[in-house]
Amino acid sequence: MNTQNNKDLRKAFGMFPTGITVVTAIDKENKPIGMTVNSFSSVSLDPPLVLWSIAKKQPSYSLFLDANGYAVNILSKDQVKLCNHFASPLNDKFENINWKLSENGFPLINDTLAWFDCTKWNDYEGGDHKILLGKVTSYGISNMDPLTFWNGKIS
Ligand SMILES: Cc1cc2nc3c(=O)[nH]c(=O)nc-3n(C[C@H](O)[C@H](O)[C@H](O)COP(=O)(O)O)c2cc1C
Repeated sequence: MNTQNNKDLRKAFGMFPTGITVVTAIDKENKPIGMTVNSFSSVSLDPPLVLWSIAKKQPSYSLFLDANGYAVNILSKDQVKLCNHFASPLNDKFENINWKLSENGFPLINDTLAWFDCTKWNDYEGGDHKILLGKVTSYGISNMDPLTFWNGKIS
């Protein structure tokens, strides 16, 4: 590793284009929680596993760690507003959002490109993040274009 700083490393990591998701769960008071996430990745087909990573500094960090799973909502091209909304530290992120509960009891946002309903598989240490592996118990897809993230740009 050379002496480049974190800002440069963040920029280099950002050269990898990704999709954008909103990961949701339910906290201990039965309140829906959700945040914009681009660290999502598919992992395994058998068993069906996916992962994402959460920064330990996030206000909702312990809520997601305590949840017994999560839902991944993959955003479509026309859902930029949802992306920005769930990337902001709001008190009630689900006000004015159309959603329903998944079979596992996690929020599925209406009209997304695809979704995965997941039970908790395992959590792993990941430096200043924690990696949350989930087992997919059901999923859905639709026929739309994806919202993407590359070099700090959402398009
Ligand atoms: C495109 C994009 C991708 C993001 N990906 C992640 C991620 O993978 N992990 C993470 O911890 N935060 C990520 N964030 C930041 C969180 O969405 C943001 O800090 C959010 O407010 C955290 O939710 P909370 O305030 O309810 O805890 C991302 C933000 C954006 C705009």
